[in-house]
Amino acid sequence: MESKRIAAEKAVEFIKDGMIVGLGTGSTAYWAIQKIGQRVKEGLSVKAIATSNQSEDLARELGISLLSTAEIETIDITIDGADEVDADWNLIKGGGGALLREKIVAASSKQLIIIVDESKLVKQLGHFPLPVEIVRFGYEITVNKLRKLGAEPTLRKIGEQPYLTDNGNYIADCHFGKIDRPDELHHALNLIPGVVDNGLFIGMATHVIAGYQDGTVKEQLR
Ligand code: 5RP
Repeated sequence: MESKRIAAEKAVEFIKDGMIVGLGTGSTAYWAIQKIGQRVKEGLSVKAIATSNQSEDLARELGISLLSTAEIETIDITIDGADEVDADWNLIKGGGGALLREKIVAASSKQLIIIVDESKLVKQLGHFPLPVEIVRFGYEITVNKLRKLGAEPTLRKIGEQPYLTDNGNYIADCHFGKIDRPDELHHALNLIPGVVDNGLFIGMATHVIAGYQDGTVKEQLR
């Protein structure tokens, strides 16, 4: 938790007065939002857009001004976590179920700062099951198509019920084993009717900041 917090707080140093900021989702992004809230109380003037209802609620509680998507063309900086980061800064995201909004916000951001603890840094993606957001209609068919692509998919559940994203969709967590060509897999997945998007973020991160158990924070180099 401490390594997540120190990475998050380092990332918040990139935020300057007047910026539009994308707020990520998850336990690492939580610390970034807390720090932004603190800086707002100290006089920082920013406007934010959140990537989940959870982050939006937290931002509101902390007095961070929020914008709607209608009010935004580009976002200056988005700070978000990840489930895995490879040596080329390709990411697996969506462990917290917010991958679609996270990708929409990331794709409109001039800078995407990824904050992680050291455990998320990997040589190759694929140990963490890849979250794929799928529509509810015909989900059994979509899950079969994911299987044909080489995945072992599991429908995410809360208790007995399927987990629902903020967009009202399901998530299939897909074990592919080691992912050799993330860009090809990304395209193949998104060509399946019923797939809304998947948790591969290819070439989107502009910075990766990692917190270590010894209390140090390092900006990763490619
Ligand atoms: C949510 C995400 C999160 O950024 C990712 O799951 C990492 O979460 P955490 O910071 O809690 O480890 O993609 O959809």
